[in-house]
Amino acid sequence: QFTPRVFSGIQPSGGLTLGNYLGAMKRFVDMQDAGTHETIYCMVDLHAITVAQDPKDLAHNTRELCAGFIASGIDPEKSVLFNQSQVPEHAQLGWIFNCVARMGWMGRMTQWKDKAGKNAEQASLGLFAYPALMAADILVYHATHVPVGEDQKQHLELTRDIAAKFNHDYGVDFFPITEPVIEGAATRVMSLRDGTKKMSKSDPSDLSRINMTDTADAIAKKIRKAKTDPEPLPEALDGLDERPDARNLVNIYAALAEITPQQVLDQHAGSQFGTFKPVLADLAVEKLAPIGTEMSRLMEDQAEIDRILARGAERGREIAAPILAKTLEIVGM
Ligand code: ADP
Ligand code: NA
Repeated sequence: QFTPRVFSGIQPSGGLTLGNYLGAMKRFVDMQDAGTHETIYCMVDLHAITVAQDPKDLAHNTRELCAGFIASGIDPEKSVLFNQSQVPEHAQLGWIFNCVARMGWMGRMTQWKDKAGKNAEQASLGLFAYPALMAADILVYHATHVPVGEDQKQHLELTRDIAAKFNHDYGVDFFPITEPVIEGAATRVMSLRDGTKKMSKSDPSDLSRINMTDTADAIAKKIRKAKTDPEPLPEALDGLDERPDARNLVNIYAALAEITPQQVLDQHAGSQFGTFKPVLADLAVEKLAPIGTEMSRLMEDQAEIDRILARGAERGREIAAPILAKTLEIVGM
């Protein structure tokens, strides 16, 4: 009944890391190239402003994110690639879903609790409603599949609940119950300074992360300085159970080389990090440095990026507008 369709979004909140590349961008490219689904990728600027954003930075970060998508291999002809605010149907369906979702559902979202913290009175209403807008992002395309990390699983559950409640309340079978596409462990990239924490742009230590715009020298240096232990690489994966920093480097290698972590161990068991790190650094430079270079090249021609975004928004609206129109009709508008 529904066209196989993948939707995913990334916030243009600045600073793309190796975690974003391996955990999001690269997976998005693989899905695009698999050709089994239509693929729709979005810069979710409406989500970004749920917390304060400097307007100049937001505009810059949106273009940079677009450059990051393209440099990673998203082809704006093969995938629909656009900026959320340029497809107003997201916000319109988001309002409808605000009226479908229940306060109690939203209040149970762990990300809301984490981000609002003890200061919920001062959090924006948008931050609270964020998951209803996310449901609209997905369902305004009737997306059947969403690649999600661990941290977004609960929000996708909510998307399914909203679709089911809308269908039930209006007695229709209109919105699909979207399936998660769960990421493998190897695509969760941890901090290079603390293998128990996620690699993040918000970590104060620049050595903790590799940025997608880092030069070859910076990439190599950060891997050289990554925290490790004095043990050699084991033969079996369970030998990494108590060694989060070592496991992280093995996982990064595996994801970059497109092999399994066990295959990395098959090739490198017995190596000390003094030997393994330079090999990993070479691989990371080979895979990432050209992406950073391409991002800078694309960023030199902002008019071209804006043209790509405008065209993407047009294509997005071609799918979203009839679905919104039908939704309004169902609601009686
Ligand atoms: P958001 O607040 O929108 O989740 P992030 O910048 O944290 O913004 O993440 C954007 C995307 O990149 C998400 O799909 C997220 O799962 C992925 N991502 C971010 N950091 C990592 C990481 N360290 N490992 C794997 N995936 C990551
Ligand atoms: Na996240």
